[in-house]
Amino acid sequence: MRGVPKSLRDLARVFCLVVVFWALAIYLELSEKLALWLLGYERLQLDEMPLTLLVLSISLAWFAFRRFAEAASLLKTNRHLTQRLITAQEDERRTLARELHDEVGQACTALRIEAAYIAKAAMTNPNAVLEAAGRMDQSVLRMQSLARDLLKRLRPPILDSLGLVESLEELCRNWHRQFGILCLTDFDALQANPPDPVCTSLYRVTQEALTNIARHAQASQVRVALRVDHRYLTLTVTDDGQGLAQTTPVEGLGLIGMRERIASLQGEIHFEDAHPGLRIRAQIPLASLKP
Ligand SMILES: Nc1ncnc2c1ncn2[C@@H]1O[C@H](COP(=O)(O)OP(=O)(O)OP(=O)(O)O)[C@@H](O)[C@H]1O
Ligand SMILES: [Mg+2]
Repeated sequence: MRGVPKSLRDLARVFCLVVVFWALAIYLELSEKLALWLLGYERLQLDEMPLTLLVLSISLAWFAFRRFAEAASLLKTNRHLTQRLITAQEDERRTLARELHDEVGQACTALRIEAAYIAKAAMTNPNAVLEAAGRMDQSVLRMQSLARDLLKRLRPPILDSLGLVESLEELCRNWHRQFGILCLTDFDALQANPPDPVCTSLYRVTQEALTNIARHAQASQVRVALRVDHRYLTLTVTDDGQGLAQTTPVEGLGLIGMRERIASLQGEIHFEDAHPGLRIRAQIPLASLKP
């Protein structure tokens, strides 16, 4: 039996059970006995039960088949998504590796050349030593700026130092400066900073929503709001652009990633028509924030 799929084994078990029952029914003449017994309850229409139960069994088999097909399709989507996430992760690693190789590798070589030059010219040419020191300083500055960029990509440092609300303010300010699209913010004051996964998810959802608006929406204005009531923490990002085309096949990972992040916090995310534009509304239940 090893190597045979589990579903086939279960089907074989069902088949065996039916054959055994059939043999037993033939031996004991079960249907005749049941029919006789049910006739006694004709006034309650119990004699119609066997056929009704047969219809129920067929309906349940149909129901199970539909759920089976649904589960298979979900599994397929899940595999596809996992594959795409792994590819995206590999792409990101490749980019980081390339930047480290090109920038840091080159800067280190330059530093070693300058160091060798300084060692040679130390006694004879003090001016050349000063110039080499200046060039070394520039290389180190470039490396520092690269390290800062890479670290920002790996984790937004302002989340740790500023907290969620201020980090979102900063994100919106920078985005407005970069793309020149008006970005209005309206954030409720939070009594305490939410747990780290919530802050990171809301920050990343806002970041992807703003990136999408700059890339796809042709909007002139964006409103980012954070609301807190006794049940939910709600983030909305609304633009006045062309909105999400109903027919757009979702090719990218952005919207899927948002959905996954919010679902992992037991929350819900909705992509609504903002007449005109798109409203993204992410709702996280406060109960899920408690440790
Ligand atoms: N604010 C928006 N306004 C109009 N269309 C949008 C908006 N946000 C997303 N879309 C549409 O939804 C599609 C899917 O977005 P998604 O972020 O998942 O992918 P992407 O931005 O194309 O690629 P990726 O985010 O993976 O780099 C986009 O290609 C775009 O057509
Ligand atoms: Mg995107």
